[in-house]
Amino acid sequence: MSEKTPFYITTPIYYPSAKLHIGHAYCTTVADTIARFKRLAGYDVFFLTGSDEHGQKIQQAAEKEGVTPLQYVDRIVAGFQELWRLLGISYDDFIRTSEERHHELVQHIFQKIYDQGDIYKGAYKGLYCTPCESYWTKLQLDENGCCPDCHRPVQEVSEEAYFFRMSKYADRLLAYINEHPDFIQPVSRRNEMIAFIEQGLEDLCVSRTSFDWGIPVPFDPKHVVYVWFDALTNYLTPIGYMHDKEKFNNYWPADVHLVGKEIVRFHTIIWGCMLMALGIDLPKKVYGHGWLIVDGAKMSKSVGNVVDPIALIEEFGADAVRYFLLREITLGQDGNISRDTLIGRINSDLANDLGNLLHRTLSMAKKYRKGVLAKGAGRTDFDAALEEMAAATVADYTAQMEQMELSAAIKTAWALISRTNKYIDETAPWTLAKDEAKAAELDSVLYHLVESLRVTSILISPFLPVTARRIHEQLGFTSDFAAVQLSDAAWGGTEDGHTVGTAEQLFPRIEIEK
Ligand code: MSP
Repeated sequence: MSEKTPFYITTPIYYPSAKLHIGHAYCTTVADTIARFKRLAGYDVFFLTGSDEHGQKIQQAAEKEGVTPLQYVDRIVAGFQELWRLLGISYDDFIRTSEERHHELVQHIFQKIYDQGDIYKGAYKGLYCTPCESYWTKLQLDENGCCPDCHRPVQEVSEEAYFFRMSKYADRLLAYINEHPDFIQPVSRRNEMIAFIEQGLEDLCVSRTSFDWGIPVPFDPKHVVYVWFDALTNYLTPIGYMHDKEKFNNYWPADVHLVGKEIVRFHTIIWGCMLMALGIDLPKKVYGHGWLIVDGAKMSKSVGNVVDPIALIEEFGADAVRYFLLREITLGQDGNISRDTLIGRINSDLANDLGNLLHRTLSMAKKYRKGVLAKGAGRTDFDAALEEMAAATVADYTAQMEQMELSAAIKTAWALISRTNKYIDETAPWTLAKDEAKAAELDSVLYHLVESLRVTSILISPFLPVTARRIHEQLGFTSDFAAVQLSDAAWGGTEDGHTVGTAEQLFPRIEIEK
């Protein structure tokens, strides 16, 4: 096993019922940025995503198209993987719930909990929302008697079913939540869950007989396992729960399950009780992020405001889309996105602030010194101030990233970019270049500009991985960028005599059509 500290982060596994939209891409981009940061900071990261493929909804959709459920999901899941590739998502494993390794685990867990008496057979009468794969009680329905999540009609179902004795774990779970303030974040989500449990937990129906696209209950195969009971266990499979105890003990408990706010309940209450029944530690943190709102409205097919992430990536590039999502939305809160704000960010932050800084730096280094830098001569107060700011930036950025304050951290990195642009105006290299007596000062300015950009490239690499690598290359570094560590962001890493590379445009300005 590695000597590094393990860090296990997951996204939800997505339903292959429709094309993924920018909201799904947001969740995965956030997780990817955290995973990349942790690798940069020297952790042994395991980053998991995947697809949640069972359930009646999928079976019905496949029947409509005249294909098997597996044929139906294969095509959609290939689309997910293509989207993650385009977006630069650096997952370590992609789990599909239709895989054998997952079936084996779900059946093992179902059997184990049954054998210990925490799953029993009963009869289910209740209200079911098929689109959300959720059971509701009458009290939980909205004012129109519909699903409180998606507001679509629910159906009365009555069938023989297996139940999981969640009620038995309610008090223990509540005590656990109270004793572990970090378990559910942000705090608003934690309070919601406490209130939910305090109303009392009913036993959960964990099997269905009305369709068969699912994992059969091992000892009663006319039942399939309830999709959420099935899906939640995905987090245990790729880290070796069944077959590699050493790996499992290394990565579990998960450091973060990153999920959207509407599924925090499943990840804390159902999953919490399941893990307690299995005698496994609970994850260290379940973080419920907010929703992306488009031009002020929640994305939905009927409103017609669903944003396709692939179209955005094709038009603006993956890094611009990533930057926009991570910078614009405060993690944990809902965030409004629009085409105009995206273009505004690309033009002002990426093309102007960052792109121009790199371009000006490389052109001046070429023009005044044929691209060759000198380290250590002619240091002025301006230089000292920039060094100080860079050191403070690295410290603040690191603290913010550790707290998952991604938007604050990228703003911190951008403040160094702005400060470095201002430093060019303060030091006016074009004036220094005219005066032989200022040659050492000019050397120092050029060195400081390159050094500031080198530090910047490291800090922005979890957010803008392609751009960061391009900056590294244009600055003339030939070392493997993937091996760069956060500790390399200490000032002074550029060697005396280093030769910078050639400037290429990072981000073209986008002209806004009138
Ligand atoms: N399959 C379940 C998760 C099972 S995890 C054991 C599921 N899938 S989903 O495809 O419907 O949603 C996956 C994630 O996308 C959720 O975390 C959800 O919050 C997120 N988002 C869906 N729409 C979103 C926005 N508009 N904005 C941000 N996130 C959104 O739930």
